[in-house]
Amino acid sequence: MNYQNILLEQKNSILLLTLNRSHKLNTLNKALRTELHTALVHALNDSSIRGIIITGAGQKAFAAGADITEFEGLTSAEAGKLAAEAQTEIFDLIENSPKPVIAAVNGFALGGGLELALACHIRLASEDAVMGLPELGLGIIPGFGGTQRLTKLIGKGRAFEMILTSGSVNARHALEIGLVNKISSPEELLNDTLELMKKILKNPPLALGSAIKSINAASDSSGFEVEINAFASCFSTQESAEGIKAFIEKRQPRF
Ligand code: COA
Repeated sequence: MNYQNILLEQKNSILLLTLNRSHKLNTLNKALRTELHTALVHALNDSSIRGIIITGAGQKAFAAGADITEFEGLTSAEAGKLAAEAQTEIFDLIENSPKPVIAAVNGFALGGGLELALACHIRLASEDAVMGLPELGLGIIPGFGGTQRLTKLIGKGRAFEMILTSGSVNARHALEIGLVNKISSPEELLNDTLELMKKILKNPPLALGSAIKSINAASDSSGFEVEINAFASCFSTQESAEGIKAFIEKRQPRF
């Protein structure tokens, strides 16, 4: 695919995926969402890629939400289809990716932009980042998973406050409430995110995938069962044979 709205750059085994509509603050219009889906599917199927970083082009925004101009005149049925498709094709795909996905939130992450960051496994933010779900101000609600993922991440009371006020939080507050894991200067954000990903990728891929699957199941009633099964299946991999043997032999594992 000839991408017009995203940029892809592979740095060793890490794919840097940049939302690239900076003139519209990287808003997630239909064309961008289609490209994002295609790029994610390729990345998940490409064994040379082991981790994905998502960020926004320019200095100002990660993504300022869905493209509001595309909402005008939508029927309820169309809106439901749009949300369901986006959920399956992008947000669930990221959340359930067995390869770690980190959001480097550079600037505004509003509406669908924050929902995209929320679908990622980890979020790092620049000092000037501003995050919020302002949909109620448009007479709608978050439709790309925001009410669910924000609540799971920061708790019901704080999610109620953020969503019901249509308010936004700065990077420092986001760090305090666990919305992001770390704050970096705008200049250091990408480098810090790459370093974190490199640290993660020192661990072997099948174990990473099993851990992601189990952590994602933490809020399901079947979470413990998912973990037990994932733990058990780790023992049929070469990774675990090598990891355990290396510890006993007092050497570094060769994954
Ligand atoms: N949908 C469509 N276009 C958007 C957009 C969105 N969510 N967010 C920004 N844009 C467009 C603006 O209309 C503007 O386009 P123009 O240059 O053709 O006029 C361009 O992006 C730049 O944004 P602008 O508003 O001029 O930047 P700003 O610095 O003054 O304000 C924001 C930045 C983020 C505060 C403001 O753009 C905003 O409130 N955006 C909407 C955020 C939102 O409600 N998101 C949830 C959507 S469900």
